[in-house]
Amino acid sequence: MTAQRTSSDAIDRQATTDVRETGTEAPPATSTGTTTGAEAPPLRVGPIAVWPPVVLAPMAGITNAPFRRLCRQFGAGASPPGDGASTAPAARGGLFVSEMITARGLAERNGKTLRLARFADDEPVRSIQLYGTDPHAMGEAVRFLAGEERADHVDLNFGCPVAKVTRKGGGAALPARRALFRDVVRAAVRGAAGVPVTVKLRIGIDERITTYLDAGRIAEDEGAAAVALHARTAAQHYSGGADWRAVAALRAAVTSVPVLGNGDIWQASDARRMMDETGCHGVVVGRGCLGRPWLFGDLARAFAGRAVPPAPVLEEVVEVLRRHTHLLAEWLTEPVAVRDVRKHVGWYLHGYPVGPEVRRRLTAAATLAALDAELDRLAAAHPTMAIVPGADARPRGKSSGPIAVTLPDGWLAAADDPSPDVADDLDAVSGG
Ligand SMILES: Cc1cc2nc3c(=O)[nH]c(=O)nc-3n(C[C@H](O)[C@H](O)[C@H](O)COP(=O)(O)O)c2cc1C
Repeated sequence: MTAQRTSSDAIDRQATTDVRETGTEAPPATSTGTTTGAEAPPLRVGPIAVWPPVVLAPMAGITNAPFRRLCRQFGAGASPPGDGASTAPAARGGLFVSEMITARGLAERNGKTLRLARFADDEPVRSIQLYGTDPHAMGEAVRFLAGEERADHVDLNFGCPVAKVTRKGGGAALPARRALFRDVVRAAVRGAAGVPVTVKLRIGIDERITTYLDAGRIAEDEGAAAVALHARTAAQHYSGGADWRAVAALRAAVTSVPVLGNGDIWQASDARRMMDETGCHGVVVGRGCLGRPWLFGDLARAFAGRAVPPAPVLEEVVEVLRRHTHLLAEWLTEPVAVRDVRKHVGWYLHGYPVGPEVRRRLTAAATLAALDAELDRLAAAHPTMAIVPGADARPRGKSSGPIAVTLPDGWLAAADDPSPDVADDLDAVSGG
């Protein structure tokens, strides 16, 4: 097979048809395929109807415009017409959230922050995640986004467990300071002037200090449009299993806005199972789509009650990796894209027994042409190689933890003190 140096239009046309679909009919169910019951209703995030009821988890360093586009195209390409279209703007194929952006950077119009906060011209719903600990900066940031019509949805990060962030009271540390948490959410909702604001939580600091039920109720009171829970504590980091029972408990505690469940959705059937088991209104999918943007097509099929096809063969995987690389090159420039795609190579090839030398050559390629040539070679060598049975259901990506969570001095003693006695961060980098 020869390399296709496609323009972005041609890439778009390819991407709207799932690699595994040959026509408009669903392929027959196979041993890995599932037909999973009735069609799910759209998820409502303020005025935005999201169908399928699925959100791409914000992931720093991953969910930039090229990755969002790939995921969206798979999701929208597999969505039956009509769903979620009754309320504008409709997020078709799912809701695709940006990388984490610092509120202070936006409030100060920092050049690097503004570049990170860019959306592509064709993004139908511009969804941005903000991080911050200072209500004033948060309010300013959201007012700026809403006032300049730069976003259609704002998500607030209260789940990041990394020391650089929690040490300053941010991410998963903030809900432990209930009054400050309330002020940050309030400032965002007020600044948003009708743009829906959602919050993303963890269960708490650790199993003794859980914060999510209070935080969920506070966010609901303050006008958040939905509440999402990564069902781990910060101390768990990414270890252990997500405790979906906490999603069910949040669903029972928060009654007037949608509750979204997050954690350990590796394949489409997991998403439906989480909704069935917890009663949540939608799901947030992170590591499960790393190297597998077609998961959004699978999710659209599963939520329509249609069969989910087996994982693509290697030749098809290679074409998606190629498309991803070219989109990155258009967005970030070729040298940056060739470096950035290296972290994705292992995820795309996860479960395909191609050997370490192939991975090494792909990650050593220094130009787009060299990478294309390696991809050609790989696809030609094993076009029909299938994934090892069960590999697409297994965890991928980060699994580190547990960790000792670092908090500012006296943080837990001042739960009802609203003053942000730590400096808001400009350079926070989330690890979720
Ligand atoms: C590489 C990486 C980066 C992440 N960055 C963020 C982030 O910026 N903001 C955030 O709220 N969560 C972040 N997360 C956490 C995810 O959004 C999600 O909550 C977590 O991965 C659990 O979902 P999963 O089991 O579907 O992966 C990140 C996760 C990963 C793996």
